[in-house]
Amino acid sequence: MAFTKKTVRDIDVAGKKVIMRVDFNVPLKDGVVTDDTRVRAAIPTIKYLKEQGAGIILMSHLGRPKGDGPEPALTLKPAADKLAELTGYDVQFCDDTYGEKAAAACAAVKPGDILVLENVRFLKAEKKNDPEVAKKLASYADIFVLDAFGTAHRAQGSVVGPAAYIPAVAGFLLEKEVDTLTGIFADPDRPFVAVVGGSKVSSKIGVLDHLIDSADTLIIGGGMAYTFFLAKGYSVGKSLQEPDWIERAGEMLKKAEAKGCQILLPIDNVCADHFGEDAEGVVFDSDKIPDDMMGMDIGPKTTELYCDAVKKAATVFWNGPMGVFEIDQFAKGTEAVARAIADSECTSIIGGGDSVAAINKFGLADKMSWISTGGGASMELVEGKALPGVEALLDA
Ligand code: 3PG
Repeated sequence: MAFTKKTVRDIDVAGKKVIMRVDFNVPLKDGVVTDDTRVRAAIPTIKYLKEQGAGIILMSHLGRPKGDGPEPALTLKPAADKLAELTGYDVQFCDDTYGEKAAAACAAVKPGDILVLENVRFLKAEKKNDPEVAKKLASYADIFVLDAFGTAHRAQGSVVGPAAYIPAVAGFLLEKEVDTLTGIFADPDRPFVAVVGGSKVSSKIGVLDHLIDSADTLIIGGGMAYTFFLAKGYSVGKSLQEPDWIERAGEMLKKAEAKGCQILLPIDNVCADHFGEDAEGVVFDSDKIPDDMMGMDIGPKTTELYCDAVKKAATVFWNGPMGVFEIDQFAKGTEAVARAIADSECTSIIGGGDSVAAINKFGLADKMSWISTGGGASMELVEGKALPGVEALLDA
């Protein structure tokens, strides 16, 4: 699907001041960025704007501060330092966002300069999308750019607000994410195989529902599979289960059948008698899980079935692990499926969250076609929802 909003390519930024919302919500340890993926992802737009001669003001949230003022542990300074380190650019940091200090720092920005403002969430009004916040941020610049895909599902001041006051366009990351994640519903190369795992049906029901409309095969793994087993009348022992969602799971199975989407559920499972690092895995077929056991991973027969399906795919979308991949003896299913995706020629799209952690754990990131930088945002797109941040931008 073509991106329907204006991007930085569609607007003259030369000599203008641009305020850009990025998602620098990065993990920190002792004040150091431990995963710089999101900072790297913003660089193409920053580089483009700089080369076009724009003055660049960057803003982001980091974590979930209370909003009553600065919280030193959540300052954006480490992210600004990381940007300087990765680009070699001179990156200024201002430890203020909405006050006179920030206004003065923004006023001093010249073409080619890069200034990073302090965490936008140090003020409660930001999260409430207070117009005063939006007006203030818009007053710093001539143009608003949204490149914070990971936060585009939040209707918050710095994400949607400035668009009401100054021309607002997308950055390259936002454009690519939306294009890629909506493309699997528009015109995917077929067969299109979707792999959905994770612990709860309740948190993925919208994703499953929408994927059934588009995928040729939907592979289900992880804890959510056990609620599907209950819908099929199997007993699942002590496995994770959501009794309130059994009916919806059953409806999904029926919908898939009606739509001609093949659903694959585990045929065997690695189970354990308790949850823990020291738990020992025993394999049981899906209709024979004993009362005192819980499913921890897909079993060997299932792994083969799932890997075969992935190998035949032209497009794969993956979200959510196949088992408790954080514990080595229960990571085999997730690893095998990840490797099958990595080794295939297919277009592989990884939708944020735990699947990204799994891919990084197995060192397969550079073998995937696209790894989304969004967690909640990518899920909302895959559910078919519109993202408020994107909606607020100028139409192309
Ligand atoms: C994320 O990490 O998913 C985004 O940065 C959004 O963060 P939030 O859930 O705190 O709004």
